[in-house]
Amino acid sequence: MTDAIVEHPEAVQDDTQTGVRRRDFIEIAAVSFAGIGGIAVLFPLISQMAPSADVLAESTTELDISAIQPGQSVKAVFRKQPVFVRNLLPAEIAEAAAVDVSSLRDPQTLAERTKEGKENWLITMGVCTHLGCVPLGAGEGENKGEFGGYFCPCHGSHYDTAARIRKGPAPTNLLVPEYEFTSDTTVQIG
Ligand code: FES
Repeated sequence: MTDAIVEHPEAVQDDTQTGVRRRDFIEIAAVSFAGIGGIAVLFPLISQMAPSADVLAESTTELDISAIQPGQSVKAVFRKQPVFVRNLLPAEIAEAAAVDVSSLRDPQTLAERTKEGKENWLITMGVCTHLGCVPLGAGEGENKGEFGGYFCPCHGSHYDTAARIRKGPAPTNLLVPEYEFTSDTTVQIG
């Protein structure tokens, strides 16, 4: 009899603890469900907002690159996606040129990725070719990765000074968009 009286308060305490845990679970489950519901609503909205293919095909981005000093990069936007415009240092050009192209996952020379006579201007999409994150390295003080170009922190892809994939899961180099120099200091992308 005495034993039964002693056990009862503990049982109440256990129920209380369990009750707290259950409430936590219900709140977490409710938040998760709300998150899934939010995504489900978001996709149709995004697809409705997306411009048609012919509108996208016509869009271009014009950039004044006169203020980008050697060693500096800027992030621009082209068709709603980030673009990196980088004014390579002579040492970075030499580093890219010294690589044995046949050893690369996606073999390309720096010259093939830039315009003739303007090898210092490296213009690429700022979209990792693995799963689409925006790599670091174009902003002041950002991590440029082990090969001095760009680094994608999502899953650890390292790009070199020609934005070629050198390490990590990304299958190809950062994409070079269609672009042309409309003057010495102006670039039109697209
Ligand atoms: S998205 Fe860049 S490494 Fe995965």
